[in-house]
Amino acid sequence: MNIASEWMLLFLAFFIPLQLPSLLASTDTGYINIDCGAEEAYTDSDSNIAQHIEKLPDGVRNCYTLTPKQGKNNKYLVRAFFAYRNYDLKHTPPSFDVYLGVNHWNTIEFGDLYMYFPIEVTHFALSDTISVCLVNIGKGVPFISSLELWLLTDSTYRTSSSFPLDILTRSTFSMSEDTLFVRFEDDVYDRVWFNRIVGNSKKISTSATIDSYGIENTNKLPSQVLKTAIQSLSLNSSLEIYFNNHTDSSHVYYINLYFFEFDQRVTTQKRIVDVTFNDKSILTDPFTTQHLKLVTIVQNITQADHLRISIKATPESDLPAMINAFEVYRVLSLTNSATYQEDADTILKIKHIYGIPIINWQGDPCIPNHFAWEELTCSSDGTPRIISLNLSSRGLTGPIDVSFSRFSELQSLDLSYNKLTGEVPEFLAQLSNLKFLLERNPGLCLARSCKTKKNLVPLIASIAASVAVLVMIVLTFLMIRRIKKKNGVSKKDWQEKSDKYVFSLRDVNRITNNFKTKIGKGGFGEVYLGTMQDGRDVAVKLLSQTSRQGDREFHSEVNLLTIVHHKNLVSFVGYCDEGDVKALIYEYMDQGNLQGLLSGRNPNVLKWSERLQIAVDVALGLDYLHNGIRPPVVHRDLKTSNILLNKKMQGKISDFGLCRPFINENDAHISTIPAGTFGYLDPEFQRTGKLNKKSDVYSFGVILLELITGQRPIKEEASLENKGHLLHWVNRKLKNGDIKSIVDPRLRGEYNTSSAWKFIETAMGCVPPKAIQRPDISEVLSELKICLNLNQQQTHTRERSETESSRRNPNNSLDMGSLNSLGIESTAGPYAR
Ligand SMILES: *[C@@H]1O[C@H](CO)[C@@H](O)[C@H](O)[C@H]1NC(C)=O
Repeated sequence: MNIASEWMLLFLAFFIPLQLPSLLASTDTGYINIDCGAEEAYTDSDSNIAQHIEKLPDGVRNCYTLTPKQGKNNKYLVRAFFAYRNYDLKHTPPSFDVYLGVNHWNTIEFGDLYMYFPIEVTHFALSDTISVCLVNIGKGVPFISSLELWLLTDSTYRTSSSFPLDILTRSTFSMSEDTLFVRFEDDVYDRVWFNRIVGNSKKISTSATIDSYGIENTNKLPSQVLKTAIQSLSLNSSLEIYFNNHTDSSHVYYINLYFFEFDQRVTTQKRIVDVTFNDKSILTDPFTTQHLKLVTIVQNITQADHLRISIKATPESDLPAMINAFEVYRVLSLTNSATYQEDADTILKIKHIYGIPIINWQGDPCIPNHFAWEELTCSSDGTPRIISLNLSSRGLTGPIDVSFSRFSELQSLDLSYNKLTGEVPEFLAQLSNLKFLLERNPGLCLARSCKTKKNLVPLIASIAASVAVLVMIVLTFLMIRRIKKKNGVSKKDWQEKSDKYVFSLRDVNRITNNFKTKIGKGGFGEVYLGTMQDGRDVAVKLLSQTSRQGDREFHSEVNLLTIVHHKNLVSFVGYCDEGDVKALIYEYMDQGNLQGLLSGRNPNVLKWSERLQIAVDVALGLDYLHNGIRPPVVHRDLKTSNILLNKKMQGKISDFGLCRPFINENDAHISTIPAGTFGYLDPEFQRTGKLNKKSDVYSFGVILLELITGQRPIKEEASLENKGHLLHWVNRKLKNGDIKSIVDPRLRGEYNTSSAWKFIETAMGCVPPKAIQRPDISEVLSELKICLNLNQQQTHTRERSETESSRRNPNNSLDMGSLNSLGIESTAGPYAR
């Protein structure tokens, strides 16, 4: 929108000779350092700040972020000036957009080369920073001449609207005709009051000294404005003020009218005034002026494309109507909501900590969408949240800062290919659902390896500095360490490492009530039910001495579990490693394992939709292990007995004892370790000994087949024809195209056929003999989501037609709502809406 032509004219006439610095000099303000590139700016003044800048920003959006020390929950007057003055000698003033934070404030269009363009807004800051952004709209390079910020008091410009108020006009009357505006030093906010000429009126003024501070004057009108007014020519004629330049019916406007009675006559006579806006009376009662009292009328107006203010004396009045000044504001609509404050603060902090020199990291990180910072993605509904951050190859150095943990909705964090050093902090693991990539940071280490290094450094130092005797002692010490290490990691290291996960034998005895309730038994040992102090149920896996899960597996599992956390991995509570007792403590999974649930002995047959959901859950967990952390983790022992279900039938992967975390994928030694369970074992691995992520995909395919058929992977049936691997059995049935004979008969046909086909197809896709023919788990996951979607769609179509026939009220949102509640990504596939 183009700002008042009166501004242009007036500034043309008067501001050119007036240089900007002198303009600002009169304010004697504090200093604010505004740097192009959105550096934070600080003020050292208590009341206000102003800065003269002439900047030619490069980039599409350039923001100036002001950080007044008074901080948030304060009201400010933000004023920007734009003076083109043909600085580039191109005789072509640019046109550009100005944003206040994330919302459009104004479009700057110069009518003339020498036009001086001020815009001003009163803004209640909800955050500690206020940013003003210039946006290139393809009509020349934006620039800014100065930006000022003034702290207002709480009562100043108080309205019922909490939105920013953009000034359209600020008028005073009755200056001599060749005075175009007043900007007296006594205007504490350096506002400019234009001298407006109104017909059928008479100028009045007082020569008395008016102390603008000595009266009730919340909007702090300067005394010069108080000392002049216009008055109607007669008792029964009215003052008519038109304002039609920039109003449109889509906005809300606020109008402030000021009446300051300086006429001595009111001590004996009455001046009673009534006001109408567009012929509507706005006062419940006409008011009577009082000597040296300021009356301020604040009125909002909607749906108006023009404004006519009429001020009239009532028939009872002895004196004619009068007015001193008025202001018109437009309420800026805040259509965009800024990024969640903590996320925005955190990303700025990270930018500072690592000195990230990304030019476009300016203004709000997420909003407006087309200016969102490239390195991150944001959630799109409600308050925008940062959900992924990719700082790969940004030359980051130093430790991983704790700030990263403040992104509470972060789902993906890529810090790979940097020079980060120090320990991989535990908080990364605490953010549920966070996938993080840390590969190619040579200086980063896991807690365990860091410890060893740290201890060695002082040792080496002391060797160098000590005499031979000391060397002997040190060597002896080192030897002891070596011996200890051969048996695994020294206990001291472990306990120091993650105290919060360490439980003593006494704790374990208490938690399990002296191993009272046994809930399971496996090759590794026995599982007991336990209760934590906070009432949480846990499962305590006690490793038997003869367990095939040796020291190595135990520590491997503990090490992994303290680092990886995902909603589809059984969550780890802690471990005990005391004397001969080795125990792992997990969240308790009410529904037991999938093998048990699928077994014919379970009277509650798993529903088709439950099976699909469990498949998606497990795929999510596996996708996290394979693709969510780097280097990837290969589970190596996926099977239905390692899939546990909680009360809500949410599937989670457990048993990480054979996992090989944080080992280079090409690392040769992993291939020599036999692993896995008969029936789930990748045939290629059996042949070649080469194990990789695709071995897990194979095992997962077998699990999917079990979910579909309800059968065990190795069929032990009497008839020779049905003996052998489930996979071959399904293959034979598929040849006949007979889906009914494949799907678990216990479902009694209660499944969606198209989702069943898709499900079988997906499962079979996972189990080709050659690893290279198998898809990545991420692809499997999206196929499974489609299955789930197909099934949902059918269910809802049925529900909907029932609903429609009963009350003829089709409600399409039903589908979306229910899909969303299942957490299905709406972009999952061709069936997504
Ligand atoms: C991060 O960005 C790099 C390129 O800058 C890309 O190779 C990598 O795949 C991205 N990471 C993620 C998790 O998308």
